[in-house]
Amino acid sequence: MEKQFKRTLITTALPYANGPVHIGHLAGVYVPADIYARYLRLKGEEVLMIGGSDEHGVPITIRAKKEGVSPQDVVDRFHGIIKQSFEDFGITFDIYSRTTSQTHKQVASDFFRKLYDKGEFLEKTSEQYYDEEAKQFLADRYITGTCPHCKNEHAYGDQCEACGTSLNPTDLIAPKSTISGSVPVMKETKHWYLPLDKHEPFLRKWILEDHKEWKSNVYGQCKSWLDMGLQPRAVSRDLDWGIPVPVEGAEGKVLYVWFDAPIGYISNTKELLPDSWETWWKDPETKILHFIGKDNIVFHCIVFPAMLKAEGSFCLPENVPANEFLNLEGDKISTSRNWAVWLHEYLIDMPGKQDVLRYVLTANAPETKDNDFTWKDFQARNNNELVAILGNFINRALVLTEKYFEGKVPVAGELTDYDLATLKDFANVKADVERLLDTFHFRDAQKEAMNLARIGNKYLADTEPWKLAKTDMERVGTILNISLQIAANLAIAFEPFLPFSMDKLNKMLNVEPLGWDRLGATDLLSAGHQLGKSALLFEKIEDSVIEAQVQRLFDTKKANEEADYKANPIRTNIEFDDFTKLDIRVGTVLECTKVPKADKLLQFKIDDGLETRTIVSGIAKFYNPEELVGKQVCFVANLAPRKLKGIVSEGMILSAENNDGTLAVISPNKNVKPGSEVK
Ligand code: 2FM
Ligand code: ZN
Repeated sequence: MEKQFKRTLITTALPYANGPVHIGHLAGVYVPADIYARYLRLKGEEVLMIGGSDEHGVPITIRAKKEGVSPQDVVDRFHGIIKQSFEDFGITFDIYSRTTSQTHKQVASDFFRKLYDKGEFLEKTSEQYYDEEAKQFLADRYITGTCPHCKNEHAYGDQCEACGTSLNPTDLIAPKSTISGSVPVMKETKHWYLPLDKHEPFLRKWILEDHKEWKSNVYGQCKSWLDMGLQPRAVSRDLDWGIPVPVEGAEGKVLYVWFDAPIGYISNTKELLPDSWETWWKDPETKILHFIGKDNIVFHCIVFPAMLKAEGSFCLPENVPANEFLNLEGDKISTSRNWAVWLHEYLIDMPGKQDVLRYVLTANAPETKDNDFTWKDFQARNNNELVAILGNFINRALVLTEKYFEGKVPVAGELTDYDLATLKDFANVKADVERLLDTFHFRDAQKEAMNLARIGNKYLADTEPWKLAKTDMERVGTILNISLQIAANLAIAFEPFLPFSMDKLNKMLNVEPLGWDRLGATDLLSAGHQLGKSALLFEKIEDSVIEAQVQRLFDTKKANEEADYKANPIRTNIEFDDFTKLDIRVGTVLECTKVPKADKLLQFKIDDGLETRTIVSGIAKFYNPEELVGKQVCFVANLAPRKLKGIVSEGMILSAENNDGTLAVISPNKNVKPGSEVK
């Protein structure tokens, strides 16, 4: 028997207030959580959606230092920007607060103190790096040095960004404090640890046995953590930004950001409902759900539950529907590298198109694996789905009703078999969408909703009411009545996904928002009901708009490459194995011609020793095609073929690039047999 709950508490990961939010945040956490919250509200259920900014932690102090302002200045600025972005995208938090609030400081401090008083912590002294000039202990991020793996000289104490390895500060060769530049020394410091190992048996049973229904990516990650064996985790830090450890003799120590942040969910509930917050956290009839990204799984499934369990009076989450990551045009989204589509910038470029982004991010949601956002796909989904299917159907139904029935819902006459089959088709939508939403399959749920619009489109295309207008107005009325019922159903089914557009649609239909229980009904609009004025719900996005976005990303990439080159003129070391993967050969140029309508490209036919291969190369500005015929060139022979200006290029010709960007093709200094390997 599935457990029944009275109310649902939805928490959403608290984003760090050290930068604005981007499409990855929206796709991974806030849009799915909002869809779910809206869905439950439409069903008339009792639900709370809690959000807020995560304002402690080292990244914030680093940003403040870089900008020469206080950490409070940094979080004030970004909390404002983030909160506004969420509002702009229709994310319906019941509260969006912050971890620098007074309530939070008190709640988090009390929480720590309760665990401390219950003897739930271990106290341990260990040696950590200390900056004697700055007179402070150094957080991992404040130490740089040479990576022992790839010899990058700018690795951080927690990670080398060049080779991606996680590090401990003591792994670094020649460590340096980023605060004073001095060489840090080891010094003893005391911290409090949550003994996760003690909670391991409980966690194993609670997750691995009692929550087999969790998403496989979440369950799998938990299992691998548990199978590795849990260790005590420090929950305090030597830092001057955060919530002071409420214990005597703990001066200069604050709660670790991952200790206080999840308590933020509780504090924010308390701030919203000072008198009844406990019902939402302590009554077992509350279903608690944490919406997060995959990098937060261990904290929400292992650390926070262990904290709650140790405290003793709180409920544990029922589910943690974590998503994987969204990439952008094939690369990992990165705040520090500005590789992102920022929500506040999106709205400047695409005013009013919140729903388009919500739609595309849900259609591409990284629910089971990492996914990629591309502007081409964004355009295609807008033009081919939102405009051509959903918008088109609604518009035709409304405009035809305006034209033939003065905008009044016509009477449905006798129904044909085809009408009945159509009605039956969309009667199932409710059950299908519900089943998918209840199990957090948001992309499939949205697909089902879109199928309803497809049914409507097909119905209009098949029945062609515009052709019957001269001969059989009663039949036209029936067709439009059915179409309008479908349109009203769409307004319900799409409300959680496309709230702005469905608001408009409700106005066009001249109805108050209809409840979820009415989904699938065929009598949502009664005959004679006067509709509002129709307008287009979505508009086509032109190529030029998309090209401008792609160009902006291209510029960012270029700037990043230049900055990387300055910081590290020679690229990170690679293994010999990586080198041997490259198959570089010499070939003889048989033909060379300009590629029409592409001023940078030359098309080569090359004798590669086995056959004639085609390669397109961007060197047209530096050579006349004739001067290369008969020459030998070096090329990468095993590069996956790529299409350039409609020509499939089977490799890459190697050139040397001067500082000013001019290129010179590389040739062997004696002629060799075509196909000879370059080693
Ligand atoms: O990963 C992050 O952005 C964290 N700030 C999430 C915190 S979630 C919760 F614990 F507050
Ligand atoms: Zn490295």
